[in-house]
Amino acid sequence: MCGIVGYVGKRDAVPVLVEGLHRLEYRGYDSAGLAVVHRGRLAVTKTAGRVQDLRDKLKTNTKATLGIGHTRWATHGEPNEVNAHPHTDTAGRIAVVHNGIIENAEQLRAQLQGSGVRLVSDTDTEALAHMIAAELAAAEAGDGPAAPGDLEDAVIRTLRRVEGAYGLVVLDIKNPDQLVVARNGSPIVLGLGENEMFVASDVSALVRYTRQVIYLEDGEVAKIRATDYRTTTLAGQDASAKIPMTVDADDDDYELGPYQDYMRKEIHEQPDALRRALRGRLDDRFATARLGGINLDARELRSIRCVKFLGCGSAYYAGQMGATVIEELARIPADAEPASEFRYRSPVVDPDTLYVAVSQSGETIDTLMAVQELKRKGGQVMGAVNVVGSAIGRECGRGIFLHAGPEVAVASTKALTNMAVSFALLGLLLGRVRDLSAASGHRVVTGLRALPEQVNRILAAEEDIATIAGRFAHAEHMFFIGRVRGWPVAREGAQKLKEISYVHAEAYQAGELKHGPLALIAADMPSVVIVPSDDLVAKNISTIEQIKARGGPVIAVTSTDIPEGLADAVIRVPRAEPELEPILLNVPLQILAYHAAAKLGRDIDKPRNLAKSVTVE
Ligand code: AGP
Repeated sequence: MCGIVGYVGKRDAVPVLVEGLHRLEYRGYDSAGLAVVHRGRLAVTKTAGRVQDLRDKLKTNTKATLGIGHTRWATHGEPNEVNAHPHTDTAGRIAVVHNGIIENAEQLRAQLQGSGVRLVSDTDTEALAHMIAAELAAAEAGDGPAAPGDLEDAVIRTLRRVEGAYGLVVLDIKNPDQLVVARNGSPIVLGLGENEMFVASDVSALVRYTRQVIYLEDGEVAKIRATDYRTTTLAGQDASAKIPMTVDADDDDYELGPYQDYMRKEIHEQPDALRRALRGRLDDRFATARLGGINLDARELRSIRCVKFLGCGSAYYAGQMGATVIEELARIPADAEPASEFRYRSPVVDPDTLYVAVSQSGETIDTLMAVQELKRKGGQVMGAVNVVGSAIGRECGRGIFLHAGPEVAVASTKALTNMAVSFALLGLLLGRVRDLSAASGHRVVTGLRALPEQVNRILAAEEDIATIAGRFAHAEHMFFIGRVRGWPVAREGAQKLKEISYVHAEAYQAGELKHGPLALIAADMPSVVIVPSDDLVAKNISTIEQIKARGGPVIAVTSTDIPEGLADAVIRVPRAEPELEPILLNVPLQILAYHAAAKLGRDIDKPRNLAKSVTVE
């Protein structure tokens, strides 16, 4: 969703900020803007278009060494130039960029209007700029509690009157050597350079310049200058004792290289991503997995009576894959639930259940809130996150890092694959402290090790899958059908197709077809049927026959042999250990969705209405 960048140092700030905004485009946005201090005055440029439009609009002679920038995802007010950030006070002294939602914005706006301030935008953020300016003005007139000219103090006093979520950066032309940043529920990371400092909502905007970062915690404020920074809490306590982290990514990870879009690049990165997820985690001697980050010894692992995955969208479907493999390998009950529902239904939290919060970004607000609800009720929770240092990872304090590398495309591919393989590792570990035999453990270890190469073989068939996608891309609706292991695969396949191609896709359990959806089967309703190599092959073949008998076209995605000529198209994947097959069966569905979307001319990396990380409700 919204993105933030900030810079203070010796470089020309404008290109640094624009470059940072380009890097944040993947998060999804509808307008962009930046503010710099140029010759002692505030220079603000905004656009209701893309970052490229902003770049075109910028005056080439606007030189500055301090500035802030923003990509906005509209919440308060429509996406237009006036509502785009940065927002300023009336005198043009203060500029603010803000992610999140101020919940008492209406009240704050009314108070400002009551005191004669003319608000020009519909946003919650504009109120902050006026309030900070008012604090500074009062202090400078000697009739306010803030210290004269102290921007940090004015920001803190303002934020104490604010309810809601924010990540924000404030610039004051009368303090042209510093930025003040604050966080409450919306990520803010400081990038430490040599005699320069960067701020961003996401490390992708700053890895080009530095890999040394500090994550702000909720309730913290930082004053940053080119050579130093100081963090305090809103309550005024010193919070400077922070050890910088080294980001496990560099600028090249965010480059497209020979690819036209990130989704295809990330699909092709899966063999390497899988190798990273498995590295050091397979224990041949004891035929088990090593997952040090979950911090549970054998006795504690044994005392887990149930596993529950919580995630949103594809992360939820990956959790469903996880639940299936854990039940199979460990023989303990496991299921998955959308994190977005969890806290609203007053969940019964069981102390013997291991809850797993699943998130690529580690910033999804609903998943984060589910973790907080669990912790409040004494639940045991661990994270399965890709972004190290992210809010969910830190809130959980233990878990499994996915090691997929930076994922830029809105449509999750390699992170989902690494989620699924991580849950297979967890299943193996839980199984081996219970009744899974060493022989079965060895079989799974060998199967896991084979996965990267097997994914490579699927990728080698991309052209054939693209041809199939081309044949069916113009369908208005599609079904994705799966049974047991194939069911979460079908759900994720439908999700991927609809989010990037806008083709309406629904997933059904094969056994449910006859209870209603079969009425929709017709020549213009293709079905993708997932057929793993398990003891349900005959049942799945019979499902295909039932669809065919009603004139419905079928694309079978399978690791087994199905009768010649039964399906209209067949996509084959290598046969894997049965419990691991969902991981492979999912990959051609990514390719299918990608090529259907490409055929339809969609903006694949930035599908309409969607954002990469959903940091507001
Ligand atoms: C995936 O293709 C989707 N864009 C979306 O469902 C995503 O998985 C979901 O928003 C959760 O994101 P997270 O993994 O970063 O928490």
